[in-house]
Amino acid sequence: MSTEAQDGTLTVTDNRTGQTYEFAITDGTIRATELRNIRVSDDDFGLMTYDPAFMNTASCRSAITYLDGDNGVLRYRGYPIEQLAEKSTFLEVAWLLIHGELPTAAELTQFTKDIADRMSVDPSVEAAVKAYRKDAHPMGVLEAGFGQLSTLYPEAKEIESDPERMDALYNTIAKMPTIGGVAFRHNQGKDSVAPDPSLDYSTNILKMFFGADYEPDPRLVRALDILLILHADHEQNCSTSTVRSVGSSQVDPYSAVAAGIAALYGPLHGGANEAVLVMLREIGSKENVPEFVEKVKNREALLMGFGHRVYKNYDPRATIIKKACDDVFEVTGVNPLLEIAVELESVALNDEFFIQRKLYPNVDFYSGLIYEALGIPSEMFTVMFAIGRAPGWVAQWLEMINDKEQKISRPRQVYVGPDERDYVDVGSR
Ligand code: CMC
Repeated sequence: MSTEAQDGTLTVTDNRTGQTYEFAITDGTIRATELRNIRVSDDDFGLMTYDPAFMNTASCRSAITYLDGDNGVLRYRGYPIEQLAEKSTFLEVAWLLIHGELPTAAELTQFTKDIADRMSVDPSVEAAVKAYRKDAHPMGVLEAGFGQLSTLYPEAKEIESDPERMDALYNTIAKMPTIGGVAFRHNQGKDSVAPDPSLDYSTNILKMFFGADYEPDPRLVRALDILLILHADHEQNCSTSTVRSVGSSQVDPYSAVAAGIAALYGPLHGGANEAVLVMLREIGSKENVPEFVEKVKNREALLMGFGHRVYKNYDPRATIIKKACDDVFEVTGVNPLLEIAVELESVALNDEFFIQRKLYPNVDFYSGLIYEALGIPSEMFTVMFAIGRAPGWVAQWLEMINDKEQKISRPRQVYVGPDERDYVDVGSR
């Protein structure tokens, strides 16, 4: 149902005062600030909503991604994710997210060149990464790398200037895999591999990871490109709303993206793909699946890669990834962990605990298996997510900056601490 069909008014009676108020319903929402008119006295602050974790609060109006979690629908700028995964490329999707329309052939050619030309990073980035411990987690390195980009491009602070901000947005997409590649090679004690502007984006990623001599099978390159498309945006998720929130202070976009990378790192968000592989290895074999599921039901473990704040149905991205698994395993041979994953999914989907709570596989359940088949170690999985999510972060940042209704992000609180009390000297406590 379109949200317009839900427009009308809402009448509320405050039983404390008997007074009645009418609120406009627009796009299926009421304005939270209007509730402030509901007061018991003139000096009353007015009614607030209490919404920990933003379970039912829209923080923006957005034209980028449509998500219907009950019906498993995901569209970027109106285009179904299934069609984009089948027919488009990651850079075309990146343009779509930022600019709102699919690019013309000339625009796509220019954008592809713009990104390729921006992929290399200042030598000081690799120098900084070399100062890290060999086992430094690449997400920490990536996060710091974006802090460093903010120092290398101080002009990005001019967030109202179109050339400056477009430069920063394109740099974000272009340099995310390069810094990821530097971090990856550092973990292996190797020097970085420079990007090659003559190669497509996804081939460049694989070569920057595995070496200039590595010749990836085109089917693997395509599978990687599809994975990046599937991760490109997901409306107001934890990292994207972090980018918006931090960006609302008018800091430069590199710094806002660094904060987004930090948010993505957590195991309940982008870190879940790494956690899935750890979980599958711990389970060890298909026979141990029922025992693990019992542990989940007894709240001793989480079934990583399952459940979603918004999807209460099969995540459409998981369906596409499952199919991509088949294509990749045709080239690489089947990952033995796949058997455990398939069994786990089947047991969980038939178990009342998961049925009742509408817990289905999410994007992270199968993506790690593909990354592993590509030879990418599990510490790098969340970096792959960040590379994919970069266009979404910057498109959402741009939409926020251009939205005249947005201000610095600043939630309210319900204070539950002590009333005023007098300071007690340390000797008397
Ligand atoms: N395993 C076991 N139980 C679960 C799981 C899970 N993966 N997810 C949710 N539940 C249970 C939860 O315990 C709760 O049960 P009850 O109502 O009896 O207390 C119920 O399902 C509702 O869960 P919730 O924690 O209130 O849901 P949420 O919207 O706050 O959390 C989530 C969403 C994704 C954080 C959560 O499902 C989770 O922790 N999943 C595992 C981590 C994961 O796969 N994350 C990737 C998410 S998709 C990619 C991304 O956005 O990064």
